[in-house]
Amino acid sequence: MAAKLQASVSVLALGVALVSGSALAYEQGDMVLRGGIAMVDPDASSSPLAINGSEVAGTSVDVDDNTQLGITFTYMLSDDVGVEVLAATPFSHTVSAKGLGDEFDAIDLKHLPPTVSVQYFPMDSAAKFQPYVGVGLNYTIFFDEELTSEFKANVDDGSVKLDDSFGLAFELGCDYELSDNLVLNAAIWTIDIDTEATIKLDSGAKVTTDVDIDPLVYMVGVGYKF
Ligand code: NI
Repeated sequence: MAAKLQASVSVLALGVALVSGSALAYEQGDMVLRGGIAMVDPDASSSPLAINGSEVAGTSVDVDDNTQLGITFTYMLSDDVGVEVLAATPFSHTVSAKGLGDEFDAIDLKHLPPTVSVQYFPMDSAAKFQPYVGVGLNYTIFFDEELTSEFKANVDDGSVKLDDSFGLAFELGCDYELSDNLVLNAAIWTIDIDTEATIKLDSGAKVTTDVDIDPLVYMVGVGYKF
């Protein structure tokens, strides 16, 4: 009788464990790997172009948007708090010059904006819908910068370099649990990316401008929880 009861309790306990195991969407130690499409949409502003240190009034630069593959990985430090890394394939942008006649493409560049954020998940662990907010640090590395043929035709040949940027990032996102392991994800970041572009012309002149790229980054995708 006692053994039978014990067996029943064990079966019941196992049943509860299985049910609660599948119902707990987010808990300490969980990892979520998400992949999807990520778009960097700059909200750029810049100082006037400075030639050998003297600013040319009315000039500025702009930066176009670009879409790549994005990956985020979250590790849950507790049931409510996670730490996330954002990575992507390199983004390619064109920087255009304004105020020197008609706007023209001036610089092609690539960058990687790895971002580490601390995330807060306010919903109960069992909720299928898991919105989150995050705050983090971004390090943006620019590479493969080159002057466009339009720049060379309009101005001069030369070389260009953009400084790396270190700044704050804020994030809003949500995961929706499709099954025990699969989630749908959407997220948006606003990232403070500020850089100085320096162009060394073959003539010997130096052209500089401070650029606030400050993009919104959008990502939609699917995630695997394990
Ligand atoms: Ni900024």
